[in-house]
Amino acid sequence: MLAVSGLTLLLVSAPTSLALFVNSPAWGALNTTVGGRLVQGIPFARSCFPLVSNDTGGNFDEQECDAVKSDYLDHFLLASKLGGYMNTQWQTCQRTGAECLLDSTNPANAEADSPPRVCSQGSIPEFGIHVASAKDVLAGVNFSKEHGIPLVIKNSGHDFKGRSSGPGTLALWMSNLNSIEQKPHFVPTGCSSRQAKNAVTVGAGVSFSDLVTFADEQNLTIPSGGDLTVGAAGGFVQGGGHSILSNVFGLAADRVLEFEVVTPRGDHLVANGCQNTDLFFALRGGGGGTFGIVMKMTTEVFPSMAINAVFASFDPTVGDNRLEFLRFVTDQSLEFAKQGWGTYIIPRIGILLANPTLSPTAANASVATLRTFMTTNLTGTFTMTVEPNYKTFFDKYIGALVHVPVGIPMTPSSRLVPVEYFETASKRAELVSTLATLFDSVESSIVFGTTPFLFGPEHDETSVSPAWRNSLWHVNVANAWNFNTTVAGVALKYSSLTSAVNPLRDLTRGSGAYQNEADVYEPNHEASFWGKHYPRLLAIKQKYDPEHILDCWQCVGWLGPSNSRYKCYI
Ligand SMILES: Cc1cc2nc3c(=O)[nH]c(=O)nc-3n(C[C@H](O)[C@H](O)[C@H](O)COP(=O)(O)OP(=O)(O)OC[C@H]3O[C@@H](n4cnc5c(N)ncnc54)[C@H](O)[C@@H]3O)c2cc1C
Ligand SMILES: *[C@@H]1O[C@H](CO)[C@@H](O)[C@H](O)[C@H]1NC(C)=O
Ligand SMILES: *[C@@H]1O[C@H](CO)[C@@H](O)[C@H](O)[C@H]1NC(C)=O
Ligand SMILES: *[C@@H]1O[C@H](CO)[C@@H](O)[C@H](O)[C@H]1NC(C)=O
Ligand SMILES: *[C@@H]1O[C@H](CO)[C@@H](O)[C@H](O)[C@H]1NC(C)=O
Ligand SMILES: *[C@@H]1O[C@H](CO)[C@@H](O)[C@H](O)[C@H]1NC(C)=O
Ligand SMILES: *[C@@H]1O[C@H](CO)[C@@H](O)[C@H](O)[C@H]1NC(C)=O
Ligand SMILES: *[C@@H]1O[C@H](CO)[C@@H](O)[C@H](O)[C@H]1NC(C)=O
Repeated sequence: MLAVSGLTLLLVSAPTSLALFVNSPAWGALNTTVGGRLVQGIPFARSCFPLVSNDTGGNFDEQECDAVKSDYLDHFLLASKLGGYMNTQWQTCQRTGAECLLDSTNPANAEADSPPRVCSQGSIPEFGIHVASAKDVLAGVNFSKEHGIPLVIKNSGHDFKGRSSGPGTLALWMSNLNSIEQKPHFVPTGCSSRQAKNAVTVGAGVSFSDLVTFADEQNLTIPSGGDLTVGAAGGFVQGGGHSILSNVFGLAADRVLEFEVVTPRGDHLVANGCQNTDLFFALRGGGGGTFGIVMKMTTEVFPSMAINAVFASFDPTVGDNRLEFLRFVTDQSLEFAKQGWGTYIIPRIGILLANPTLSPTAANASVATLRTFMTTNLTGTFTMTVEPNYKTFFDKYIGALVHVPVGIPMTPSSRLVPVEYFETASKRAELVSTLATLFDSVESSIVFGTTPFLFGPEHDETSVSPAWRNSLWHVNVANAWNFNTTVAGVALKYSSLTSAVNPLRDLTRGSGAYQNEADVYEPNHEASFWGKHYPRLLAIKQKYDPEHILDCWQCVGWLGPSNSRYKCYI
């Protein structure tokens, strides 16, 4: 009896328990194949903990801990480490509570890292290949196939749904691939030179911080995400990629001209509009971590341009200010979009608008009503400037005013709101009433007026949810917690968020959500993230990854929540 259960235990744990392989010849051989670039995955705050579980590497180190504590909430430090994940629950095993986290409301709080608290490996990959070439990727793919070790692709660690970490995994860590090349007359391989475009080719690890600076130096405009440490060529673009300029220039997925990819089948390919077009379609919205490992991306870029910028705020604690503000922005949004404005609306703070197309005079005229409303009706603030280029705009407005917290356990939910809800007074009233209730029942909210409305539906060659093409808003709400929230408490954070969004889902039936900022427990996720594109995406997944080497939560063709990869999800 004992022997039988012991054997069973061994069989069950053998394929996924990396502990059995540590120091084994197999890992040593892999390290040799990848030129010594195999690194151990160490929990981000490991150095602060005297006590550690037996499966966790790294050392207690007071000096290093001081650095971690002072920059615990810093996106650059998090992005620089294999064990750094912005939404820190993805460093942990949520289901068991095994973690290595500090108090995100006060990282200096010794209660989090002092005994009896123990630092655990959680969902931090056991090892990562710090990828330098396609050969390194192939070595990782081969190793995963041979040893049954699940593979994850880790770039910046921004993923909101845990798709770049996992217990007992080997990571392909892309951050070293940071080349940026200018290609003023880029012709995709196999295409005709009539299709030449002004482009830039970036390595898989390039961050928006580097890319926006490069664009500025070269007098180019390259729209970015709202956080500069998000990767330009990883999950962001492969899942869609919205920016405050998307209304005019489309989603990041719309602007891609070519990907260089290693497929789980072992092929090293170029996918664009003229060859491997199925893979090209899938990588433009089908989601990261699913179809292949992107090594490089080439994207269309634009000349440097001035950006009209407006920031207006109000006091949310006064009278009916919040509701009046919501009503006003809902009434005005269609007109804003038609005039070329992209918006970030923060229901408890105010609104940021950016416009790359109008002249300063026309821009000023088009926000006259907003100016009066914000300053007179709400007795708030209104600032307008014309910024010489995107980088100055970004630094002065998004960088300084929009703060999406990182270094904390947090989870979002998303809904794309179709244009029709802005077209008639009765639809707008329904939307306002649904949103007012929603915003009061979640901890934070932001509305992105970043859909490709002016860019237009005629460019629909990507695999993002078709809902992006007829929507005006991507509504995003979130809940957060802390290191000592109980497992039941965390479960409630997720489930209450999902429930809070249900009335908006019901109101906008048939629409969808933005997969990269979506609910971890999105109902009917295939329809919501991809709509009519799903069957085609599934066929492409089966073609390029028949052995299912890549898999991630609610991704195309995923293995489902009961697969052992997901044993740390609640
Ligand atoms: C603070 C913050 C701000 C954000 N702002 C925006 C925003 O303004 N607009 C927006 O659209 N999104 C935004 N996002 C969401 C963002 O798009 C996603 O988090 C996205 O998944 C990040 O991709 P990454 O490659 O940088 O991160 P990772 O977490 O490293 O990777 C994310 C996913 O992509 C896969 N992946 C990474 N690299 C590759 C590769 N080379 N080949 C194949 N798959 C790969 C991973 O396996 C994983 O599935 C934001 C997120 C955060 C946390
Ligand atoms: C891989 O090899 C390099 C160079 O020999 C070494 O520095 C590194 O520690 C090894 N990695 C692991 C995980 O042992
Ligand atoms: C670690 O501890 C657990 C629980 O005490 C035990 O089952 C496991 O065998 C240990 N692993 C190693 C590698 O020592
Ligand atoms: C991966 O495996 C394939 C097929 O077995 C082999 O041809 C190739 O050389 C391997 N590549 C690496 C980098 O290990
Ligand atoms: C960018 O524009 C400025 C101002 O017009 C010019 O001085 C500079 O040479 C340009 N830089 C590049 C790389 O084209
Ligand atoms: C912008 O318009 C307002 C009226 O809405 C006007 O008072 C202001 O002078 C204008 N500013 C510029 C720079 O034209
Ligand atoms: C702003 O206040 C004026 C004067 O009270 C009022 O007529 C107008 O309807 C208000 N505007 C909005 C959008 O509520
Ligand atoms: C979590 O820790 C914080 C900070 O020390 C403390 O204020 C709070 O009461 C703790 N919460 C729980 C549920 O233990």
